[in-house]
Amino acid sequence: MCGIVGYVGEKKALPILMDKLEMLTYRGYDSAGVAVSENGHFYLKKTKGRVSDLEAIVDRDGVSGTVGLGHTRWATHGEPSTPNAHPHTDCTEKLVVVQNGIVENFWELKQDLMGKGHHFHSETDTEVIAHLIEEYYDGNITTAVNLAMQQMHGSMALLVLHKDEQDTLVAAKMDSPPLIVGFGRGENHVASDIPALLRYTNRIYPLEDGEVATIRRDKVIITNYREPETPRLSPPKVMVINWSPEVAKKDGYEHFMLKEIHEQPTTVNDTLRGRLPETADGMVEIPDLNLTAEEAQRIERLTLVACGTAYHACLVGKYLIEQALRIPVTVDVGSEYRYRAPLIGRNEVMVAISQSGETADTIASMREGMEQGAKVVAITNVLGSSVARLADGVLYTRAGPEMAVASTKAFVGQLVGLHLLTQFLAQHRELPAGMRERLLKMREELWRLPALIERILAESRPVQRLAKAISQQEACFFIGRNLDEPMAREGALKLKEISYIHSQGYAAGELKHGTLALLAPNVPVVALATQRAVYDKSVSNVQEVLARHAWVIGVAHEGDERLTDLVGRENMLTIPQSDDWLAPVLTAVQLQLLSYYTALELGRDIDQPRNLAKSVTVE
Ligand code: G6P
Repeated sequence: MCGIVGYVGEKKALPILMDKLEMLTYRGYDSAGVAVSENGHFYLKKTKGRVSDLEAIVDRDGVSGTVGLGHTRWATHGEPSTPNAHPHTDCTEKLVVVQNGIVENFWELKQDLMGKGHHFHSETDTEVIAHLIEEYYDGNITTAVNLAMQQMHGSMALLVLHKDEQDTLVAAKMDSPPLIVGFGRGENHVASDIPALLRYTNRIYPLEDGEVATIRRDKVIITNYREPETPRLSPPKVMVINWSPEVAKKDGYEHFMLKEIHEQPTTVNDTLRGRLPETADGMVEIPDLNLTAEEAQRIERLTLVACGTAYHACLVGKYLIEQALRIPVTVDVGSEYRYRAPLIGRNEVMVAISQSGETADTIASMREGMEQGAKVVAITNVLGSSVARLADGVLYTRAGPEMAVASTKAFVGQLVGLHLLTQFLAQHRELPAGMRERLLKMREELWRLPALIERILAESRPVQRLAKAISQQEACFFIGRNLDEPMAREGALKLKEISYIHSQGYAAGELKHGTLALLAPNVPVVALATQRAVYDKSVSNVQEVLARHAWVIGVAHEGDERLTDLVGRENMLTIPQSDDWLAPVLTAVQLQLLSYYTALELGRDIDQPRNLAKSVTVE
């Protein structure tokens, strides 16, 4: 998604803006631009392509202005091109605007503005904002932005700079796209994402829906365009982030994705710490979740909602929670939930899962749930994110910033979060016979997970060898049953998003209802067989695939014999022995490595795959 950066202070703005843009590149984008106010003019450069292309055309040291803004664009209205890149200016070129989001009524506004004599130079909705603010400008940029915001519909975050008020950046937010003010000493910052701020400050204020921030070197004033006369919190309530700038660096790894795969033992440990007792007798404590024992007892249904990889975590959660707690669980993708007129029952709790905490469809689903009276809790990775602020309670995954577009450590954090939720609810509910003992035993196993992940990471030669062979293929299928079914989907998503090899994940029993027609000799099928309760059936499905001469790669627990015998040891990936319900965490690691090494073999842009964005803040 589009990235926004801004700086107002005493230092040269351009190098700071360029560094911040570099920190946002992980989000996915197709063009970039900057504007610095300099001696009554704007130094404005923009280009289609990468931040490195922008770097090649800016004069980092030659521009002395100390106030400016920048942008990375992910095209929505208008193809990726230099004219469509931000910043955009008005007719008089007195102001510059960058935006993330969508102005839904831009066409009507554009017609109106053209009728008033405004000339447009791009196909973007953002240029409309520049002309609208020009129309309202009467000597005070904050007032003009307030008035312009009142005329627009949609979901957007924007940053504006006017030539006649060179010491002032104005940031505004409508609905979901994030915009964060960072407080420095003698300077202040803006960015659409925390990693861009970490080098400069860890004191932040994420703007709320409707807020307009007037940002100067020495102060930040917050108002709300919906009620501009009512003074807001001033100074704003500052939050302190404990991520270090180092965690947003590659640290010797070739790609963020590989680094993040290797960070997973730490993610598991950090996410469990202070919440899951190491012995069977303690209580699971998740105070921020804000669920009382009584509420936990009363829950009649859970709805899990998310997008992308986080949706797959929800599907794993459904298998886990329904089997362990006998609570019915509904799972939805965020983009569908609110449009299917969902029915929310009494005593229903919604769990929204989101790495970034900024996914527009997940946020909209939460609002729908709240409107219908559900209690909404969140599992998210980003402190102070929109999801975290909106939810009635939060379980933070402690994965640290995730920079690769393909989610790895955050997914594992989400799975662990779902185990914590299960353990927490279990201690307040009646359980089926034998379940309490199994869950108590699983506590020890959860603590062992980091060591088990380390074991997989220490021996990646088999997965590298298989990835090399998969990279020669045009399609790949993933199959599994029970908790392996969502993992098959996740394995397929991971492979397609970074290698661009067509891949699909299916319930193993469903193959014969259509997909078998696609199996020809040597087509790779990754067969997950980590769920002991359905192992025999999984093996039968592998037989069906082998009978069509497809090439099967098996994933099973160490010590597996039957599947290994069928597909050949050289075609096996193993995970250490664990409770079946923990297998998804270990399977995830093998499948992440399989995708990573396949994409590496193909020379893909692993951390920033084409067309994708890390955080999708539009519908
Ligand atoms: C994008 C990312 C995925 C992610 C999904 C949901 O599509 O590329 O990796 O799973 O959004 O993001 P969230 O931040 O809500 O987990």
